[in-house]
Amino acid sequence: MRFKPRLPDLSTSKGRLQLALYAGAVAIGGLFFVASVPTVASNSTFCGVACHSQNPQWQSWKESAHSQITCYSCHIDISYKHLAQEKLIAGPVGIIGEVFGLYEKPINADSHYSQKIPVERCERCHANENREFSFSEGIIMDHDAHQGAGIACAVCHNRVAHQGAEKFEPLKSAWPETKEAARKAGQEEFAYKNFMKMKDGCFRCHSGSPESRDPKTLELIKNGRRAPQACTACHTGDFDLPRGHTSGTWRSEHGEAARENFGDCFDCHAAGADYDNNGKDWCTLCHADEQADRFKRQPAPQPAPPPEPALE
Ligand code: HEC
Ligand code: HEC
Ligand code: HEC
Ligand code: HEC
Ligand code: HEC
Ligand code: HEC
Ligand code: HEC
Repeated sequence: MRFKPRLPDLSTSKGRLQLALYAGAVAIGGLFFVASVPTVASNSTFCGVACHSQNPQWQSWKESAHSQITCYSCHIDISYKHLAQEKLIAGPVGIIGEVFGLYEKPINADSHYSQKIPVERCERCHANENREFSFSEGIIMDHDAHQGAGIACAVCHNRVAHQGAEKFEPLKSAWPETKEAARKAGQEEFAYKNFMKMKDGCFRCHSGSPESRDPKTLELIKNGRRAPQACTACHTGDFDLPRGHTSGTWRSEHGEAARENFGDCFDCHAAGADYDNNGKDWCTLCHADEQADRFKRQPAPQPAPPPEPALE
């Protein structure tokens, strides 16, 4: 038997009723489709699975303390306007991006996105005034000072939902571009910066060296305050700070400590070490190059040569 589509005969009232029923069914089906696509597409799993480029963010989110919080809670403002924008513009653009491989790779490699997430998104659920914080040992943190300066949560807590994203595909190995990004950043493998770290994060504003601060991050300070630089602003007395650095007179007194053993200083301050001056020895921040050339690791003392055997 062959199925032959047959248009209803519009000259009869039965035929007209048939057409109306077909049209109704199509309209209801269409409405259902239109209504369900955004609902399905707003589901966190959809975001991670259908959009393979976001798989690492989905996987890392599942392992985070926010695994019960939808992507949208942090990623879009919940209002009809933003929802419509997301569905009508961002969604389709995302699908095109996914199909044609137009996503930046790795997505958000320099974490610029963290500076765009407004504090209100986090404040939907978090009220720091009512929270008791227990910080890691030896660390002092002042949430009110930053909130007063207009600095949003994600500026520091940037990896809060995506810590460890690097271990998932396609970020892990399917994107050759990640190798290039890693090479540029001087890393062996690509890793997002964690702004909860002192050097990568806090020193963007708090570093004693103007070269180590980050102008874009400094712009986020809205009340004109200066971020203090003393080690003791963030470290309690029992934190194992390098010798001398806690003293208020270190800037004028470090010479003596340095001369005792420059090697101690260069563990942290040599060119290429953690706290250098933009690729040069840290000391060149204040000392002229020729002067700093004298500040070198001392060669290890040579053992005294064995005494000559006495002649008979
Ligand atoms: C608790 C808030 C929060 C939730 C929930 C959340 N994200 Fe994010 N997301 C962030 C923040 C903050 C960043 C910025 C990271 C940075 O700049 O380093 C980010 C960044 C991203 C990026 C850019 C790539 C990257 O790793 O920086 C993608 C893609 C992303 N999120 C997708 C998702 C998806 C998909 C979900 C749900 C499965 C989700 N996010 C859930 C806070 C969140
Ligand atoms: C829809 C609610 C919701 C939103 C939005 C939300 N959080 Fe959370 N957050 C939670 C819950 C629930 C927990 C787990 C319980 C707790 O520690 O309070 C949590 C835990 C945390 C923790 C402690 C655990 C950890 O992973 O270190 C931090 C830090 C945090 N959130 C920061 C943020 C930041 C930053 C944002 C905005 C980018 C944000 N949250 C947005 C609900 C939310
Ligand atoms: C200037 C950087 C900075 C900003 C801005 C910031 N935090 Fe934090 N936050 C920290 C540091 C540092 C810690 C302590 C981490 C530790 O002790 O290991 C912390 C701890 C927390 C914790 C406790 C985590 C835990 O494991 O119990 C929560 C929750 C939290 N912050 C939420 C927020 C929220 C919400 C905002 C925005 C209103 C915010 N923070 C803004 C740096 C910041
Ligand atoms: C966007 C710039 C910025 C970043 C990033 C930043 N801070 Fe701050 N911080 C400030 C500013 C500005 C102040 C001074 C606020 C004031 O005086 O009211 C401050 C003050 C503080 C204070 C109070 C010090 C005191 O003695 O009053 C502590 C503690 C602190 N920051 C810790 C941190 C830690 C820890 C980090 C990294 C996780 C960090 N900050 C990252 C800008 C920043
Ligand atoms: C703005 C806050 C802030 C200031 C100022 C600050 N620290 Fe830290 N420091 C932190 C935080 C937060 C951590 C823990 C996160 C980490 O390991 O990077 C830390 C960790 C450290 C560590 C262990 C990790 C590492 O990189 O070796 C050392 C050492 C250290 N600080 C030394 C210092 C010295 C020395 C100074 C002063 C010249 C100083 N800190 C000033 C916030 C600060
Ligand atoms: C923040 C600026 C600054 C930085 C960074 C700095 N110095 Fe100095 N240094 C000074 C000043 C200022 C003096 C002069 C102090 C005085 O004698 O009044 C000085 C003096 C010295 C002296 C004694 C004078 C001499 O020429 O023999 C030595 C040694 C010295 N510094 C070593 C170092 C070393 C090593 C480093 C890097 C690990 C370093 N300094 C980083 C500012 C700095
Ligand atoms: C454990 C790592 C470590 C060691 C070892 C170390 N420093 Fe530092 N030093 C730091 C850090 C971190 C900073 C802050 C860097 C910044 O502000 O960007 C700093 C800052 C300084 C400053 C600038 C202080 C200011 O007021 O701006 C001087 C000077 C300095 N160190 C000299 C030395 C000398 C001299 C030695 C050897 C006796 C030494 N350091 C050993 C970690 C170290």
